[in-house]
Amino acid sequence: MAENGKISISRQRWKLLAQVITRQPDYLSDPENNSVSVRRFNNFGLLEVRVHEDGISKDSNSVWLEYSSKDFADISCVIRQLQGNVTLDTLLGFNNTGNVCVWPSEEVMAYYCLKHREDFRSKVVCEVGGGMTCLAGVFTAVCTEAAEVVLTDGNEESVNNLTYTVARNQQSVGSTKCSARLLRWGPDLNMPELESKFDSILCADCLFFDEGREHLVNMLSLMLKPGGQALMFAPTRGNTFHEFTKLALKTFELEVKKNYDDIVWNLHQKFLSQGNDVYVENLHYPVMLVLTKPMP
Ligand SMILES: C[S@@+](CC[C@H](N)C(=O)[O-])C[C@H]1O[C@@H](n2cnc3c(N)ncnc32)[C@H](O)[C@@H]1O
Repeated sequence: MAENGKISISRQRWKLLAQVITRQPDYLSDPENNSVSVRRFNNFGLLEVRVHEDGISKDSNSVWLEYSSKDFADISCVIRQLQGNVTLDTLLGFNNTGNVCVWPSEEVMAYYCLKHREDFRSKVVCEVGGGMTCLAGVFTAVCTEAAEVVLTDGNEESVNNLTYTVARNQQSVGSTKCSARLLRWGPDLNMPELESKFDSILCADCLFFDEGREHLVNMLSLMLKPGGQALMFAPTRGNTFHEFTKLALKTFELEVKKNYDDIVWNLHQKFLSQGNDVYVENLHYPVMLVLTKPMP
Protein backbone atom coordinates (compact mmCIF):
# COMPACT_ATOMS: atom_id res chain seq x y z
CA MET A 1 0.00 0.00 0.00
CA ALA A 2 1.57 3.29 -1.11
CA GLU A 3 -0.30 5.55 1.33
CA ASN A 4 0.08 5.47 5.09
CA GLY A 5 -2.70 4.20 7.38
CA LYS A 6 -3.92 7.67 8.44
CA ILE A 7 -4.48 8.88 4.90
CA SER A 8 -6.20 5.64 4.02
CA ILE A 9 -8.60 5.89 7.01
CA SER A 10 -9.33 9.50 6.21
CA ARG A 11 -10.10 8.54 2.56
CA GLN A 12 -12.47 5.85 3.82
CA ARG A 13 -14.23 8.37 6.09
CA TRP A 14 -14.74 10.76 3.16
CA LYS A 15 -16.01 7.88 1.05
CA LEU A 16 -18.45 6.99 3.84
CA LEU A 17 -19.61 10.60 4.04
CA ALA A 18 -19.98 10.82 0.26
CA GLN A 19 -22.05 7.65 0.22
CA VAL A 20 -24.33 9.05 2.92
CA ILE A 21 -24.78 12.31 1.06
CA THR A 22 -25.57 10.52 -2.17
CA ARG A 23 -27.64 7.95 -0.27
CA GLN A 24 -25.85 4.86 -1.46
CA PRO A 25 -26.95 1.93 0.68
CA ASP A 26 -24.85 -0.68 2.46
CA TYR A 27 -21.99 1.61 3.37
CA LEU A 28 -21.85 -0.02 6.80
CA SER A 29 -21.21 -3.44 5.37
CA ASP A 30 -18.59 -2.30 2.88
CA PRO A 31 -15.53 -4.33 3.87
CA GLU A 32 -13.30 -1.46 2.80
CA ASN A 33 -14.69 0.53 5.71
CA ASN A 34 -13.46 -2.00 8.19
CA SER A 35 -10.67 0.08 9.68
CA VAL A 36 -13.20 2.85 10.32
CA SER A 37 -15.79 0.53 11.82
CA VAL A 38 -14.90 -3.14 12.20
CA ARG A 39 -18.15 -5.01 12.55
CA ARG A 40 -18.03 -8.33 10.87
CA PHE A 41 -18.62 -10.27 14.10
CA ASN A 42 -22.16 -9.35 15.11
CA ASN A 43 -23.01 -11.16 18.32
CA PHE A 44 -22.50 -14.23 20.51
CA GLY A 45 -25.94 -15.65 19.67
CA LEU A 46 -26.97 -15.58 23.34
CA LEU A 47 -30.30 -13.96 22.57
CA GLU A 48 -32.97 -14.78 20.07
CA VAL A 49 -34.32 -11.88 18.05
CA ARG A 50 -37.44 -11.78 15.92
CA VAL A 51 -39.38 -8.98 14.31
CA HIS A 52 -42.31 -8.23 16.60
CA GLU A 53 -45.82 -8.07 15.19
CA ASP A 54 -45.70 -4.24 15.52
CA GLY A 55 -43.04 -4.51 12.81
CA ILE A 56 -41.37 -1.75 10.89
CA SER A 57 -42.38 1.90 11.33
CA LYS A 58 -44.17 3.74 8.49
CA ASP A 59 -41.05 5.72 7.59
CA SER A 60 -39.08 2.43 7.84
CA ASN A 61 -36.61 4.18 10.09
CA SER A 62 -37.19 1.82 13.01
CA VAL A 63 -38.30 -1.71 13.74
CA TRP A 64 -39.80 -3.40 16.81
CA LEU A 65 -37.84 -6.48 17.79
CA GLU A 66 -38.60 -9.09 20.41
CA TYR A 67 -35.57 -10.31 22.33
CA SER A 68 -35.64 -13.53 24.33
CA SER A 69 -33.27 -16.27 25.40
CA LYS A 70 -33.80 -20.00 25.22
CA ASP A 71 -31.95 -20.26 28.55
CA PHE A 72 -34.66 -18.21 30.27
CA ALA A 73 -38.04 -19.31 28.99
CA ASP A 74 -40.88 -16.82 29.62
CA ILE A 75 -38.61 -13.79 29.61
CA SER A 76 -38.68 -11.43 26.67
CA CYS A 77 -38.79 -7.74 25.92
CA VAL A 78 -39.76 -5.63 22.95
CA ILE A 79 -37.21 -3.12 21.77
CA ARG A 80 -37.41 -0.37 19.17
CA GLN A 81 -34.30 -0.38 17.04
CA LEU A 82 -33.22 2.24 14.50
CA GLN A 83 -32.61 0.94 11.02
CA GLY A 84 -29.30 2.62 10.33
CA ASN A 85 -30.62 5.29 7.93
CA VAL A 86 -27.72 7.57 8.78
CA THR A 87 -27.96 11.16 7.55
CA LEU A 88 -25.23 13.75 7.26
CA ASP A 89 -26.64 15.46 10.39
CA THR A 90 -26.31 12.21 12.30
CA LEU A 91 -22.73 11.69 11.25
CA LEU A 92 -21.73 15.21 12.16
CA GLY A 93 -23.67 15.27 15.44
CA PHE A 94 -22.90 13.70 18.85
CA ASN A 95 -21.27 10.29 18.83
CA ASN A 96 -23.45 7.93 16.79
CA THR A 97 -21.93 4.56 17.65
CA GLY A 98 -24.96 3.58 19.77
CA ASN A 99 -27.37 3.95 16.82
CA VAL A 100 -25.55 1.54 14.55
CA CYS A 101 -26.27 -1.80 16.24
CA VAL A 102 -26.40 -3.59 19.60
CA TRP A 103 -22.72 -4.21 20.25
CA PRO A 104 -21.59 -7.63 21.58
CA SER A 105 -20.79 -6.15 25.02
CA GLU A 106 -24.40 -4.99 25.39
CA GLU A 107 -25.67 -8.42 24.36
CA VAL A 108 -23.41 -10.15 26.90
CA MET A 109 -24.31 -7.63 29.62
CA ALA A 110 -28.03 -8.23 28.95
CA TYR A 111 -27.47 -11.98 29.25
CA TYR A 112 -25.48 -11.49 32.46
CA CYS A 113 -28.28 -9.36 33.96
CA LEU A 114 -30.82 -12.07 33.06
CA LYS A 115 -28.72 -14.71 34.74
CA HIS A 116 -28.14 -12.61 37.85
CA ARG A 117 -31.58 -11.06 38.06
CA GLU A 118 -31.90 -11.79 41.80
CA ASP A 119 -29.04 -9.33 42.43
CA PHE A 120 -31.21 -6.43 41.29
CA ARG A 121 -34.11 -6.95 43.68
CA SER A 122 -35.15 -3.56 45.15
CA LYS A 123 -32.13 -1.87 43.57
CA VAL A 124 -32.03 1.53 41.89
CA VAL A 125 -30.28 0.93 38.56
CA CYS A 126 -29.05 3.13 35.72
CA GLU A 127 -27.62 2.21 32.35
CA VAL A 128 -25.21 4.79 30.93
CA GLY A 129 -24.12 4.96 27.27
CA GLY A 130 -26.79 2.37 26.47
CA GLY A 131 -27.24 3.47 22.86
CA MET A 132 -30.55 3.23 21.02
CA THR A 133 -31.65 0.05 22.88
CA CYS A 134 -30.22 -0.02 26.44
CA LEU A 135 -30.93 -3.72 25.99
CA ALA A 136 -29.47 -4.77 29.36
CA GLY A 137 -31.32 -1.99 31.16
CA VAL A 138 -34.62 -2.90 29.51
CA PHE A 139 -34.21 -6.59 30.43
CA THR A 140 -33.38 -5.49 33.99
CA ALA A 141 -36.57 -3.40 34.11
CA VAL A 142 -38.69 -6.21 32.68
CA CYS A 143 -37.37 -9.31 34.42
CA THR A 144 -35.97 -8.25 37.79
CA GLU A 145 -37.64 -6.72 40.80
CA ALA A 146 -35.52 -3.60 40.67
CA ALA A 147 -37.13 -0.57 42.32
CA GLU A 148 -36.18 1.72 39.45
CA VAL A 149 -34.28 1.54 36.14
CA VAL A 150 -33.13 4.70 34.35
CA LEU A 151 -32.05 4.20 30.72
CA THR A 152 -29.62 6.81 29.39
CA ASP A 153 -27.30 7.83 26.60
CA GLY A 154 -25.60 11.03 25.49
CA ASN A 155 -27.05 10.92 21.98
CA GLU A 156 -30.46 12.59 21.48
CA GLU A 157 -31.56 10.19 18.75
CA SER A 158 -30.78 7.19 20.97
CA VAL A 159 -32.74 8.71 23.85
CA ASN A 160 -35.67 9.58 21.62
CA ASN A 161 -35.75 5.94 20.53
CA LEU A 162 -35.49 4.76 24.15
CA THR A 163 -38.61 6.73 25.12
CA TYR A 164 -40.64 4.60 22.66
CA THR A 165 -39.22 1.40 24.15
CA VAL A 166 -40.01 2.58 27.69
CA ALA A 167 -43.61 3.39 26.73
CA ARG A 168 -43.99 0.03 24.93
CA ASN A 169 -42.78 -1.93 27.99
CA GLN A 170 -44.75 -0.05 30.69
CA GLN A 171 -47.05 -3.02 31.26
CA SER A 172 -44.21 -5.54 31.45
CA VAL A 173 -42.10 -3.77 34.08
CA GLY A 174 -44.59 -4.36 36.91
CA SER A 175 -43.78 -2.21 39.92
CA THR A 176 -40.33 -1.27 38.60
CA LYS A 177 -40.24 2.42 37.69
CA CYS A 178 -38.63 2.78 34.26
CA SER A 179 -37.66 5.96 32.41
CA ALA A 180 -35.27 7.24 29.74
CA ARG A 181 -33.24 10.44 29.70
CA LEU A 182 -30.27 12.15 28.14
CA LEU A 183 -27.15 11.81 30.26
CA ARG A 184 -23.66 12.84 29.14
CA TRP A 185 -20.41 12.46 30.95
CA GLY A 186 -18.27 15.52 30.36
CA PRO A 187 -16.60 18.45 32.08
CA ASP A 188 -19.92 19.95 33.33
CA LEU A 189 -21.57 17.31 35.45
CA ASN A 190 -24.53 19.22 36.77
CA MET A 191 -27.05 16.61 37.87
CA PRO A 192 -27.82 17.00 41.59
CA GLU A 193 -30.93 14.81 41.22
CA LEU A 194 -28.73 11.81 40.30
CA GLU A 195 -26.05 12.20 42.98
CA SER A 196 -25.56 9.08 45.15
CA LYS A 197 -28.85 7.73 43.78
CA PHE A 198 -27.82 4.37 42.31
CA ASP A 199 -27.03 0.95 43.77
CA SER A 200 -26.00 -0.32 40.38
CA ILE A 201 -24.85 1.21 37.08
CA LEU A 202 -24.61 -0.76 33.83
CA CYS A 203 -22.29 0.24 31.00
CA ALA A 204 -21.28 -1.60 27.81
CA ASP A 205 -18.52 -0.72 25.34
CA CYS A 206 -17.96 2.88 26.39
CA LEU A 207 -14.31 2.78 27.46
CA PHE A 208 -12.62 3.50 24.14
CA PHE A 209 -13.39 7.23 23.94
CA ASP A 210 -10.02 8.73 24.87
CA GLU A 211 -11.40 12.15 25.73
CA GLY A 212 -14.22 10.77 27.92
CA ARG A 213 -12.60 8.30 30.28
CA GLU A 214 -11.90 10.58 33.22
CA HIS A 215 -15.35 12.21 32.93
CA LEU A 216 -16.97 8.77 32.95
CA VAL A 217 -15.10 7.78 36.12
CA ASN A 218 -16.18 11.05 37.79
CA MET A 219 -19.79 10.60 36.75
CA LEU A 220 -19.96 7.02 38.04
CA SER A 221 -18.46 8.13 41.32
CA LEU A 222 -21.00 10.94 41.63
CA MET A 223 -24.00 8.78 40.77
CA LEU A 224 -23.26 5.66 42.85
CA LYS A 225 -24.27 5.29 46.48
CA PRO A 226 -21.38 4.37 48.80
CA GLY A 227 -21.03 0.59 48.41
CA GLY A 228 -22.78 0.79 45.01
CA GLN A 229 -21.33 -0.97 41.98
CA ALA A 230 -20.81 -0.28 38.30
CA LEU A 231 -20.95 -3.41 36.14
CA MET A 232 -19.06 -2.70 32.95
CA PHE A 233 -18.42 -4.88 29.91
CA ALA A 234 -16.03 -3.85 27.18
CA PRO A 235 -13.51 -5.35 24.79
CA THR A 236 -9.91 -4.46 25.49
CA ARG A 237 -9.74 -2.43 22.20
CA GLY A 238 -6.00 -1.88 22.24
CA ASN A 239 -4.94 -0.21 25.45
CA THR A 240 -8.26 1.54 26.07
CA PHE A 241 -9.72 -0.86 28.66
CA HIS A 242 -6.44 -0.77 30.58
CA GLU A 243 -6.32 3.05 30.44
CA PHE A 244 -9.80 3.17 31.97
CA THR A 245 -8.94 0.77 34.80
CA LYS A 246 -5.84 2.85 35.64
CA LEU A 247 -8.03 5.92 36.11
CA ALA A 248 -10.84 4.07 37.90
CA LEU A 249 -8.40 2.60 40.41
CA LYS A 250 -7.90 6.06 41.92
CA THR A 251 -11.57 6.21 42.96
CA PHE A 252 -12.97 2.67 43.12
CA GLU A 253 -12.25 -0.81 44.38
CA LEU A 254 -11.88 -2.72 41.20
CA GLU A 255 -12.25 -6.28 39.93
CA VAL A 256 -11.47 -7.38 36.37
CA LYS A 257 -13.03 -10.70 35.31
CA LYS A 258 -12.28 -12.41 32.04
CA ASN A 259 -14.11 -15.66 32.70
CA TYR A 260 -17.35 -14.54 34.37
CA ASP A 261 -19.78 -16.95 32.72
CA ASP A 262 -19.21 -20.51 31.48
CA ILE A 263 -21.47 -20.19 28.46
CA VAL A 264 -19.92 -16.93 27.25
CA TRP A 265 -16.43 -18.29 27.92
CA ASN A 266 -17.09 -21.48 25.95
CA LEU A 267 -18.42 -19.47 23.01
CA HIS A 268 -15.31 -17.29 23.17
CA GLN A 269 -13.08 -20.39 23.07
CA LYS A 270 -15.13 -21.83 20.20
CA PHE A 271 -14.86 -18.64 18.11
CA LEU A 272 -11.13 -18.41 18.80
CA SER A 273 -10.59 -22.02 17.77
CA GLN A 274 -12.21 -21.33 14.39
CA GLY A 275 -9.01 -19.45 13.67
CA ASN A 276 -10.40 -16.95 11.15
CA ASP A 277 -10.25 -13.16 11.35
CA VAL A 278 -14.00 -12.65 11.86
CA TYR A 279 -13.76 -12.95 15.63
CA VAL A 280 -11.06 -10.75 17.08
CA GLU A 281 -10.72 -11.03 20.85
CA ASN A 282 -9.38 -7.51 21.23
CA LEU A 283 -12.46 -6.04 19.50
CA HIS A 284 -15.20 -8.48 20.39
CA TYR A 285 -14.69 -10.29 23.71
CA PRO A 286 -16.26 -8.27 26.53
CA VAL A 287 -14.12 -8.28 29.64
CA MET A 288 -16.09 -7.56 32.81
CA LEU A 289 -15.11 -4.82 35.18
CA VAL A 290 -16.77 -4.31 38.55
CA LEU A 291 -16.20 -0.96 40.24
CA THR A 292 -17.26 -0.60 43.86
CA LYS A 293 -17.58 2.85 45.42
CA PRO A 294 -15.93 2.64 48.84
CA MET A 295 -17.90 3.39 52.00
CA PRO A 296 -16.91 6.73 53.55
C1 LIG B 1 -20.14 1.73 21.21
S1 LIG B 1 -21.61 2.54 21.71
C2 LIG B 1 -22.28 1.37 22.85
C3 LIG B 1 -23.76 1.45 22.91
C4 LIG B 1 -24.39 0.30 23.68
N1 LIG B 1 -23.93 0.28 25.05
C5 LIG B 1 -24.05 -1.01 23.00
O1 LIG B 1 -23.05 -1.64 23.43
O2 LIG B 1 -24.76 -1.42 22.08
C6 LIG B 1 -21.04 3.83 22.82
C7 LIG B 1 -22.17 4.66 23.39
O3 LIG B 1 -21.62 5.64 24.27
C8 LIG B 1 -22.35 6.85 24.12
N2 LIG B 1 -21.49 7.95 24.55
C9 LIG B 1 -20.30 8.32 24.04
N3 LIG B 1 -19.81 9.39 24.71
C10 LIG B 1 -20.74 9.70 25.66
C11 LIG B 1 -20.83 10.70 26.66
N4 LIG B 1 -19.87 11.62 26.82
N5 LIG B 1 -21.92 10.71 27.45
C12 LIG B 1 -22.90 9.77 27.29
N6 LIG B 1 -22.88 8.80 26.36
C13 LIG B 1 -21.81 8.77 25.55
C14 LIG B 1 -22.67 6.90 22.64
O4 LIG B 1 -23.75 7.77 22.38
C15 LIG B 1 -22.97 5.43 22.35
O5 LIG B 1 -24.32 5.14 22.50
